[in-house]
Order: sequence, then structure tokens, then C-alpha cells
Amino acid sequence: MFENIRNHFPFFEKKPELTFLDTAASALKPKLVIERVNHCYSYEYANVHRGVYKLSNDLTEKFENVRIKTSKYINAKSEDNIVFTKSATEAINLVASCFSEKYLGSGDEVLLSYLEHHSNIVPWQIAAKKRGFKIITIDVNKEGAIDYDDFANKLNIKTKFISITHMSNVTGTIVDMQIIKKHAKKFNIPFLIDGCQYIAHAPVDVKDLDCDFYVYSGHKMYGPSGVGILYMKNKWFDRFDPYQGGGSMIDKVDFINTTYAKGNQKFEAGTPPIAQVIGLGASYDFISQFNLQKIFYHEKELYEYAFDKLKSFNDVNVIGDSKNKGAILSFTIDNMHSNDIGIILDQHNVAVRTGHHCAQPLLKKLNLNATARASFGIYNNKNDVDHFIEAIKETKNFFKK
Ligand SMILES: Cc1ncc(COP(=O)(O)O)c(C=O)c1O
Repeated sequence: MFENIRNHFPFFEKKPELTFLDTAASALKPKLVIERVNHCYSYEYANVHRGVYKLSNDLTEKFENVRIKTSKYINAKSEDNIVFTKSATEAINLVASCFSEKYLGSGDEVLLSYLEHHSNIVPWQIAAKKRGFKIITIDVNKEGAIDYDDFANKLNIKTKFISITHMSNVTGTIVDMQIIKKHAKKFNIPFLIDGCQYIAHAPVDVKDLDCDFYVYSGHKMYGPSGVGILYMKNKWFDRFDPYQGGGSMIDKVDFINTTYAKGNQKFEAGTPPIAQVIGLGASYDFISQFNLQKIFYHEKELYEYAFDKLKSFNDVNVIGDSKNKGAILSFTIDNMHSNDIGIILDQHNVAVRTGHHCAQPLLKKLNLNATARASFGIYNNKNDVDHFIEAIKETKNFFKK
């Protein structure tokens, strides 16, 4: 099913020698997306939601069609539940800010897990400083999996919000959302799922998840950078005050009193990421040609192939060996700094991410400062893994010299 997949990606025409293993940071772009963005800027471009002229109206319709595609992709009730932001980071900031202003104060608690990316930690800390609530952390075990008993034990009447990743960007751990949902519902606690690492690799159904918020970024699902997606349950649209003020989000403005637009427009102040949203639409078209479950197994097979080979080196340590995980492989090599590993791998045409992966609390918890991380996408294959393993051998030899 994925034999000819690279034909979709112009990148490989120019750089066939490169093994790209950094999809978790940002995915390469298929022709469909690149050409769609190019076409939009070349022939369709005008501002949206503003013009009375045909060019603007036509692009507004196409822009709104992507909202419909988004709602279908994640099985939301309606496109009205979708807010476009500039990134997943902005989407989480929006929720942390709007929710905390209305509902959080001293004595309240927000639960986050140790698996979180800084994007799902720092916005809550900023809000906590202003509002005086406490952040409580859900533990992870040494395999990098959530400690669900710890989660259950930390829930209490002070818990007012849960914000948790669907899949860790460091260990690939997939969080069992049915457990999170069960407990959240029992205490009637709203919860947000950070789907950045999950969205392009397995099906997402927000009706089944029954989460209040689901966020992800376009660039991690083969779409353009500069667009984030925030799914919100209906009730929050009226309950939240606007996150930002400006054009588009208003009903009537005067210096005495301004009234706001309703629904998602209230949260989309200013000119939106127009061409990025149009490109995002093409990324749904691209992924939807394939079966998401098959994408997951394809990538997972590569992960397991790489995992077994890496395990055969006694000085290589794979980080986070939890049962339920996606195709993200973090590792260290004894007596080598991860940045050195990344640099030598690059000299052998293998691109991996190195460092703390914007997850310093998790690394600290696992007694690490940094790791190297190989992450897989739809375009990877077994040759990539073989190349990666050969490059690891070269890296080890380099440091032995
Ligand atoms: C799990 C997770 N959450 C949030 C983010 C932030 O995404 P963005 O930088 O696109 O806003 C990332 C990015 O790496 C991520 O991996």
C-alpha cells in the first residue's frame, strides 16, 4: 500500500539519499498540499469573510469547506465546533486562558501528566500565576506510561480541569483515553486532549472520546505550518470570553461597548491563516486516500524493526518501552551526548531530533538530560531503518576512535 508513497513527496526527488526520521517535529509535505497552497496564492487569493466581491466570497467558501472537512476528519458534531488558530500551542493557550479566567481560582487544581510537551505545561503555569490555582502532575512509570492509579488518586473535588496528551512526543506512549474519560465523567471534569502526535497516525473520533477540547497542528499531519485546530464542545463557545480582540470577532464596536460575534468567529480575531487552512484541506485529502489504521501499522512495524535492531547493541538504551505506543523511538548511547549522535547521524544522511524535545519535566523524571529521537511517517520504509542502523554503527565507531 505504501510502496510508491514517496512519489507524492517532491522532497525525495531532490534528496533521495536522506533518511528523514523527524516527522514528530514536522512532517514533509506532499505535492497535493504544496500545489494547493501555490494555487491558492497564485489564482484564488483574497481576504476571507470580508469582501462582497466574488474572489473573496469564493475563497471564503473554500476556507469554510476545510472547516467541514476538519469536523468530518475528527468526527465532530459540526463544523461549528472547529476554531482555526495559528498552532496547537495557540489553541492550548486559548483554552488555558479562557477557562482559567472564568472558572479557576485559589484552591482549584488542574491535572497535567508528566508526558506533556511544554505547550501543555507553560500556558497552564502562566494562568496559574494569575489565578492562583495549583497544577497537579500525574506520574509516569519508568516505561514512560501513565500511572493510571496515580491519576485516579489525584482526582478530587478540587480538580477542575484535566489537560493531557494523546501520544507523547518523547516516548510515543499512547494514553488510554477511555480511562481518562471514565474518571473525568465521574467527577464531571472537562478535559483537553493534545492530539499533535496522534492525529496523522491513527483515527480520532471526538464523539467517542467525549473530550471538551481536542487540539493539533496542521504541520504535523503533512499540512502547512501556521495553522492549528481547536475542537471545542458547543457549550464553551458562549461560556468563554474572547481570547483576543480585533477584526472578525465582533458584532458591533463602539468606544462605550462592543458586542462579539457568535460561535467560532468569536475566537478567530484578525485575518486567519488563509492559505494554510486551504493547504490543510489538501492534507486531509492526502491522508484520506489511505486507511489510518494501516498507516499506524505500517509505521509501527518500522518502529519495531528499528527497536529490535537497536536493542541488539548493548550500549544503546531505548527510552520508554510502554505497551501501547506509536512510532517514536527515543534512545541514548552510553557515553555520548545526544547532540553528538545527531550531528554524526546527519553526516551519514540521517535526520533525527536531539535534545529535550520540549519536554524537560519528563526527561528529568526519567533521569535524562537529552535523547536522540527517530520518528516515523507514512513515507518511511525498511531501507530507512537499515540506513539508520548502519549510521548508528558508524556513530559508535566514530566515538571509539
Ligand atoms: C505533543 C505536542 N504537543 C504540542 C506541540 C506543539 O505544537 P506546535 O509547535 O505546532 O504548536 C507539539 C510539537 O512538537 C507536540 O509534540
